[in-house]
Amino acid sequence: TIDQKVSSLLKKMTLEEKIGQLNQYTGDNSATGPITINPNKQAEIKAGLVGSMLNVIGTKYTRQYQELAMKSRLKIPLLFGQDVIHGYKTTFPIPLAEAASWDLDVIELAARVAATEASANGIHWTFAPMVDIGRDPRWGRVMEGAGEDTYLGSKIAYARVKGFQGNKLGDLNSVMACVKHFAAYGAAIGGRDYNSVDMSERMLWETYLPPFKAALDAGAATFMNSFNDLNGIPATGNVHLQRDILKGKWNFQGFVVSDWGSIGEMVAHGYSKDLKSAAFSAITAGSDMDMESNAYRYNLTELVKEGKVSIDLIDDAVKRILRKKFELGLFDDPYRYSDEKRAEKELNNPENRKTAFEVAKKSIVLLKNENQTLPLSKNLKTIAFIGPMVKEYKANMGFWAVDLPDIDYNKWIVSQWDGLQNKVGKNTKLLYAKGCEVEGDNKDGFAEAVATSKQADVVILSIGERHDMSGEAKSRSDIHLPGVQEDLVKAVMATGKPVVVLINAGRPLIFNWTEYHVPAILYTWWLGTEAGNAIADVVFGDYNPSGKLPMTFPREIGQIPIYYNHFSTGRPPANEDAKGYVSSYIDLKNSPKFPFGYGLSYTQFSYKDLKLSSKKIKHTETIKVSFQLSNVGKVTGEEVVQLYLQDKFGSVVRPVLELKDFRKVKLNAGESKTIEFIIDKEKLSFYNNKLEWIAEPGDFEVMIGTSSAAIKLKSEFELVE
Ligand code: IFM
Repeated sequence: TIDQKVSSLLKKMTLEEKIGQLNQYTGDNSATGPITINPNKQAEIKAGLVGSMLNVIGTKYTRQYQELAMKSRLKIPLLFGQDVIHGYKTTFPIPLAEAASWDLDVIELAARVAATEASANGIHWTFAPMVDIGRDPRWGRVMEGAGEDTYLGSKIAYARVKGFQGNKLGDLNSVMACVKHFAAYGAAIGGRDYNSVDMSERMLWETYLPPFKAALDAGAATFMNSFNDLNGIPATGNVHLQRDILKGKWNFQGFVVSDWGSIGEMVAHGYSKDLKSAAFSAITAGSDMDMESNAYRYNLTELVKEGKVSIDLIDDAVKRILRKKFELGLFDDPYRYSDEKRAEKELNNPENRKTAFEVAKKSIVLLKNENQTLPLSKNLKTIAFIGPMVKEYKANMGFWAVDLPDIDYNKWIVSQWDGLQNKVGKNTKLLYAKGCEVEGDNKDGFAEAVATSKQADVVILSIGERHDMSGEAKSRSDIHLPGVQEDLVKAVMATGKPVVVLINAGRPLIFNWTEYHVPAILYTWWLGTEAGNAIADVVFGDYNPSGKLPMTFPREIGQIPIYYNHFSTGRPPANEDAKGYVSSYIDLKNSPKFPFGYGLSYTQFSYKDLKLSSKKIKHTETIKVSFQLSNVGKVTGEEVVQLYLQDKFGSVVRPVLELKDFRKVKLNAGESKTIEFIIDKEKLSFYNNKLEWIAEPGDFEVMIGTSSAAIKLKSEFELVE
């Protein structure tokens, strides 16, 4: 068995070789943090002192590095890790955009394609999915997660792990998932990356941990810990998180990698006196592999010799890592994933691009569509396509697009201009003006943009955040549309032409003037390689938009953090405008600009006939909730129907509503379907005042909504002893 193989190998290993397995270095291709690397790393690999590399890109280089490992005494293969976050060569929508599809099948498929491409190019391990709950759009990394909701986030976490890992580790097209960042990184104070987190144990368990547990249930092979401290203890050295919860209560059998330099950063945190004491804290807390700190490499031997770290602790970490190397089949053939022929066949192939196109279409959210401005007719004579994103290939890629430096952009990525051009053919003339840059205050291009707009039947304006404005280390204190872009919208609107705005971004942005005045707005995030084609399909109605927001969009920065499933205060405002001695702002509504779960369609849906199979249930029973959904518009469309519950009172305060189920339903024009949800004890449970997961007897409200703020049907029931 693998365990026997691991044990017999372990017996042959010197202490240095064991510690080598816990050591991870970056390659030369790219860096995702400050480099503190030992210049002798190649010699160290040959000496068996390195267990894993990250950022070694391509079959050629992974092979070269692996050849060095094969020269080591015990020939233990290296693991190659990489941030394959939203696709590999074929770039998919950023994870937050994919979450807006609410389509678990396509989300899983996107991860499957990414794994197939990455594994062909020498990668064994992706540092994904990021499952951190994100309630603060200032935090740049919300682009990498599934948004603000624990239920949706857990479902997506599960789907992504399944997608990356496929049927089983060891299949050639599977990569190990790495669930990150354990834990609570998404709650960084002020939305500032790497910042501290202060959080109650209840919130940790109720809101932030469930997506990690879901990823674990899906079989995630590895976890990554986190840069932040949680209630004063850095996550990397946090015994409670890693030993008690992850490896204890949850019995996680895989291994934990630190974040980049996060072991060493415990010194800057003021938690560890020096690198040696950081190494001690990290290994004791359960961090098995050191990414780029050099803390284990230079200190663990001494710590073991001094008797401060037991050899059992080292052996446990080594075993966890070796087990994965065996499972991946690397001891049978260390080069099996570095396969040039397979890479040539898989990378960016038409089938993968087709999948990326499908996912991109489903990720787009229609925010506004007055007077049925959209979809546009294909018979328009002239369209002006204006804005800094129109011809910018990278504009669609976003942070964490793998391998960008090698890309011959125009061959690889369908820009928004190319996409529209492909769609309209020869009958429609497309005019272009850039208008302005994404940032800065230069309005010199406005005159051309206005003149161009005046020549057109319709103007499409493509604006937003540059591809590198959200992501790691990309927190922003101001999330309004950057630069003079909103002024550009005003200038173009003044022409009186019908205007459609596309907003490309890695987070919820604030664009109040645009929202109020422009008749049609599509939120197009960063959609990846096929962005241009996907946007064109939606703009001309070949695809009816079906995305729903996975994060609340605030009216103003002062509302942040804002999320739909907040508690009720003792002084809830009677409506969004209520002021006085109630919980509200004197200068702003309480409601968001766009709520969680919101998104329009080119068709309309009606909800009726809510039925509950029972109004009173016991813990052992379930309730069937059914209703009729009809497409009452003129075109086929998909609706994400959302089931929310409210526990009316409990031993602790409960949220005003919580998503507990959803379904994406496709209906032809005029078609109706009966939709059913089952409510069971699990859906009624929460962490009570003793932090036990239970369903308390009492009254519940059940709500069926088209968003968290547009409840179409509701009823009540009671849970009895
Ligand atoms: O995987 C990432 C992590 O999310 C942030 N710091 C760098 C790591 C490796 O690139």
